Amino acid sequence: MATLAATGQLHYQADFVPLQQGFVHVPYNDVEAIMRATTDKTVAVMLEPVQGEGGVNIPDPDYLQRVRAWCDTQGLLLILDEIQTGMGRLGSLFGYQEYDMEPDVMTLAKGLGYGVPIGAFLAKEGCMALEPGDHGSTFGGNALTTAAAYAGTKYLIEHDIPAHVKRMESYLLTQLQALSARFACVADVRGKGLLAAMEFDSDLAGRVVTHANEAGVLLNAVRPNTVRFMPPLTITVEEIDEAAERLEAALQHI
Ligand SMILES: Cc1ncc(COP(=O)(O)O)c(C=O)c1O
Repeated sequence: MATLAATGQLHYQADFVPLQQGFVHVPYNDVEAIMRATTDKTVAVMLEPVQGEGGVNIPDPDYLQRVRAWCDTQGLLLILDEIQTGMGRLGSLFGYQEYDMEPDVMTLAKGLGYGVPIGAFLAKEGCMALEPGDHGSTFGGNALTTAAAYAGTKYLIEHDIPAHVKRMESYLLTQLQALSARFACVADVRGKGLLAAMEFDSDLAGRVVTHANEAGVLLNAVRPNTVRFMPPLTITVEEIDEAAERLEAALQHI
């Protein structure tokens, strides 16, 4: 319930009110908005290194460092939600490494599980109030999922998958930009690592997702006018080519 209260996505919250009080939402990529919202009651700032569900919003290169500096001067904890950006997705093991700063607390899930359900939060020494065993859960931290997370993470690090992600980033974006040049309805293509988005000039995302899925390319509509691409981190040039061809066929139906 607390993390539902933290999201800025109102449609996730509507069915679960009343939510925990005390979260204030500010526009993304706007350090001054964080400064203005800070009061003597503020304890932490929480954000994503790149917003996923919000529309694949990539911040200015110095945004995270400036938020870090503000938190340091104000004595606030900086919490990064790395559930979409962590585990290699942006081209580094953790997204914050792309921005040359460090959070105090970080959440991980999705990519940590390699297909099995696991979530984690990590905190620097001095920022963690919990003792081992405090955060119990019947199925939390079980032997199967932790073994899978360990094995997958070992593979990711030993095979330097984040470096592969960096190599594929420009190829994926080039292919998406080529499609953007051919289809007037595409207003923008953006991405970092293997987290990318195509934005349309109107609310076409639902139709694009339907046609793309029928063509065998699984996409997600993160906004009414924006689809998100989150391919496997091991994707190859040939697979990107095939996806681009299929997506082109799908866009012809729009
Ligand atoms: C950025 C981000 N944070 C948090 C969550 C919620 O994660 P969980 O489903 O592990 O609670 C999601 C899920 O989509 C997410 O994308």
